[in-house]
Amino acid sequence: MAAPRKKSVARIVAVAGGKGGVGKSTVAANLSLAIGRLGHRVALVDADLGAANLHTMMGALHPRASLADFLDHNVDNLDEVRLNVAPNVDLIPGASRPGSANLPVAQKLRLIRAIARLDADCIVVDVGAGTSYTVVDLVGASDLKLFVVAPQLPSLHNAYALLKACVHRVVRKLSDDETQINLIDSALANETRARTIVQLLAVLRPMDPSLVDLIEDTLSRFGAGLVGNMLTSDSEVGAMTRMSPLINDHLRVSAPVLAAIRRTNSLAGGLRAGTGTLATSSDESFASFRALARTVLEADLGRLRGEARQQQTMPLWVSREDRPATAEPPPAEQPH
Ligand SMILES: Nc1ncnc2c1ncn2[C@@H]1O[C@H](COP(=O)(O)OP(=O)(O)OP(=O)(O)O)[C@@H](O)[C@H]1O
Ligand SMILES: [Mg+2]
Repeated sequence: MAAPRKKSVARIVAVAGGKGGVGKSTVAANLSLAIGRLGHRVALVDADLGAANLHTMMGALHPRASLADFLDHNVDNLDEVRLNVAPNVDLIPGASRPGSANLPVAQKLRLIRAIARLDADCIVVDVGAGTSYTVVDLVGASDLKLFVVAPQLPSLHNAYALLKACVHRVVRKLSDDETQINLIDSALANETRARTIVQLLAVLRPMDPSLVDLIEDTLSRFGAGLVGNMLTSDSEVGAMTRMSPLINDHLRVSAPVLAAIRRTNSLAGGLRAGTGTLATSSDESFASFRALARTVLEADLGRLRGEARQQQTMPLWVSREDRPATAEPPPAEQPH
């Protein structure tokens, strides 16, 4: 009898963007297929709790089970609702229901832990649009955070706002001192006269040098990347590229452009399930998704997570271990 396969530590990739309709699901689906084609096992999670549609994109109109069964406690883990949709690619179909976008804290942590426990080499999470705490925390709990950006100003703005909210959320969890948290809020919350991160670190350093080291270390391995989508010209590719230094200047986070995907008819959608959004080998975007898949697979998980946490814990603040939600008091929702 063959020895049971050792469960690998999955790399978790969030696909976000802030703005609706910029191609998050298209990118999540095609990236997953490309990773699968490279021989790695993918769990693609449709965590767009407001408007799940990856199952339709992947050609499964009426999945037998979905994330709704997990949220309703009909099943205890997400492996029970996974559906094979392509070689090496399983989908965890999403749940669309009114009011579910902002999950209660305990439910959200249960979902984040369940995602991290999925048996796969790579877990791709479509987090949906918006900046709800569910979105921000799903992004924060991922190793790689992809921000899909279309070449329109609202998309650039929303992607930046979401990235900033994610940085803020992660950084404020590093301290439990009220004064320090107030300073962090004043630098990263949407205030008219907010400090920059650089000013914040200068103020914090004399107070608590080890906190500043921790913030700098956390920001240095934040794992963000931009995915330009629906691009129609080289000048639009240039606009994406110019976002990265701005992000670095303002947030001290590296967010390189990891892919520049053109607007193509083959990704523009259609009326039949499973058609119109998945690139085939003759499409020009096929190579872009393959290159993005390689980038995701080559990312240094040890560096992103920190060596000490690589095996035992989820990235950043959510425990990977299988503990009941009551063992760890849920953090209070904090206003931004
Ligand atoms: N590169 C592209 N070229 C042409 N059409 C595209 C491209 N990327 C996405 N689309 C189309 O744009 C529409 C929106 O894409 P998609 O559903 O992936 O966006 P989304 O960000 O997931 O939206 P939502 O916020 O509603 O979840 C779809 O009809 C899709 O087929
Ligand atoms: Mg979508």
